[in-house]
Amino acid sequence: MNPRVITKAVIPAAGLGTRFLPATKAMPKEMLPVVDKPAIQYVVSEAVKAGFTDLLMVTGRSKRALEDHFDRVPSLEYSLEAKGDKKKLDAIHEATHLGDIHYVRQGDPKGLGHAVLCAKQHVGDEPFAVLLGDDLIDERDELLSVMAEVQQKTGGSVIALMEVEPEQISAYGCADVSVVEGEEFVKVNGLVEKPAADEAPSNLAIIGRYLLHPRVFEVLEHTAPGRGNEIQLTDALQVLAAADGEGSGVHAVVFRGRRYDTGDKLSYLQANITLAVDHEDLGKGLKTWLKEFVAGFED
Ligand code: G1P
Repeated sequence: MNPRVITKAVIPAAGLGTRFLPATKAMPKEMLPVVDKPAIQYVVSEAVKAGFTDLLMVTGRSKRALEDHFDRVPSLEYSLEAKGDKKKLDAIHEATHLGDIHYVRQGDPKGLGHAVLCAKQHVGDEPFAVLLGDDLIDERDELLSVMAEVQQKTGGSVIALMEVEPEQISAYGCADVSVVEGEEFVKVNGLVEKPAADEAPSNLAIIGRYLLHPRVFEVLEHTAPGRGNEIQLTDALQVLAAADGEGSGVHAVVFRGRRYDTGDKLSYLQANITLAVDHEDLGKGLKTWLKEFVAGFED
């Protein structure tokens, strides 16, 4: 049997965004702008660019703005058309022409594993992608396409890893891996969600891109709450890594490109500045200002 090409992508967007309170009191954290677009738009664009044609967003309460953002607003389009403002018109079309987005609500935010399980009915019995909104992958770097090649070759699930400083590993899922002879990808022997630095099996952190075999749903249904009392995707993948038979096995691509974390206030600010410095309209002015601004620091 030929491995199936992945067409479905799941984008969990039901987190409460408590790290960004009060900004996220009445607004989903995924709508916080990164330079000039909501964070979620980068992720949806990446999924579309990777060839996923069927997108499912897992949302929750107070997430209506997400659906509105990807929907058309005819009155706004007419008024921009009337003014001949092509630039702004293109900017709003960028969000509404991204393709077919479906929504499912995660009634109770019981963790990432639970959010993925909410996609079971929509996804059915085929491999699918999961893209987490907090992690932005620079559009100039390839990740999902490389992962898709590995998934075609191995048939199981594929995760993305990135080397981090040892003291940062407790903020991530962490993987124990071994080399696969003659291949660029690695085999995952074990996974642990947010280990203490001195207990981590490596400095390889899971980043928010996954290609999953549908067997993960069956495992998630039996996964007890883990770290933070939440149902962890990492724990379900650990089961698949150790299992045998159809749909078992986890491999990983070690990503060495540019990733921007928008998950906490400091890294969110850093992501904004890093991306704005490369921005067509803003970059030059921002760089000039940044140099002067930084020169004024005392230490
Ligand atoms: C989630 C995953 C974690 C992964 C991280 C990547 O954690 O549970 O394994 O390393 O995303 O961003 P969260 O950041 O949602 O706490």
